[in-house]
Amino acid sequence: MKLIQRPRRLRRNETIRALVRETSLTPDDFVYPLFACEGEGVRREITSMPGCFNLSIDELVREVEAARSEGVRSVILFGVPDEKDAAGTGGYAEDGITQRAIRAVKREVRDVLVIADNCLCEYTDHGHCGLVKDGEVLNDPTLELLARTAVSHAEAGADIIAPSNMMDGFVIAIRSALDDEGFEHIPIMSYAVKYASAFYGPFREAAQSTPQFGDRRGYQMDPANAREAMREAELDWQEGADILMVKPALPYLDIIRAVRERFDAPVAAYQVSGEYAMLKAAGKLGWIDEDRVMMETLTAIKRAGADIILTYFAREMARRLA
Ligand code: PBG
Repeated sequence: MKLIQRPRRLRRNETIRALVRETSLTPDDFVYPLFACEGEGVRREITSMPGCFNLSIDELVREVEAARSEGVRSVILFGVPDEKDAAGTGGYAEDGITQRAIRAVKREVRDVLVIADNCLCEYTDHGHCGLVKDGEVLNDPTLELLARTAVSHAEAGADIIAPSNMMDGFVIAIRSALDDEGFEHIPIMSYAVKYASAFYGPFREAAQSTPQFGDRRGYQMDPANAREAMREAELDWQEGADILMVKPALPYLDIIRAVRERFDAPVAAYQVSGEYAMLKAAGKLGWIDEDRVMMETLTAIKRAGADIILTYFAREMARRLA
């Protein structure tokens, strides 16, 4: 037998493997999610997310500075307010926790891109992503509050607005409001395809945003649906989204690939809290090699078609790739 094709020829050592490698990661691929809380000198580790913290603004600035110096160039900020109410007013208050965090980071850290997550669930006492009436999350009245939130984030200095609330029409509502206020240059990174996922559990511990009744299946997507993902992405694209996101990432690689093939837009993917927690937990137990699994999952997400990856590993990855 004479074998003509021998794929192993190109796998013989690391130099040749590097030569033919199709997908590689750089620190520029990553966005680092961070949680801002009230107080001073607060650096409270999130139990289910080892290595991630609720940070008061002074500590947040230090974290961003340190991450920046290690090569992280983009962060996405979430606010964890002390006070919550039914209308989520802390979400669009001029001196809300997120607005103050954005201002501080933009003032103190040079050359860092600040993305503002746009949702109400961290600010409502019922934990839902919009206004609630008779147990229903209202769509159109919520849009107005999301638009106000986006403008307040832009006024605070946010470079990109990232709406994650899954109300219908959220991109056009936010786009119009930003344009009306002179922020037509601010891009929207839409959580276009966001599934109602159990993988958000640890985030909800971090942001104290677990719904107090029911769940989010009335607005986030059914994990079983792929065609519907294309409809969601199409709508956001038509409404003026600049970047389309799929979330979570690893359980939805097929969706990342489909969005990549269908749209000539930058595609983002969010490796969410539960994905991170699983790797950290198994790593701690010594059941997997955490470092290698981190690399492998992020490579897989990029290979599927993501240009941008939001991940709690961003700082570790920047260090790793330096
Ligand atoms: C806000 C929001 C959530 C996440 C990002 N933005 C929580 C949710 O929808 O319940 C989850 C991120 C993560 O799990 O890492 N709506």
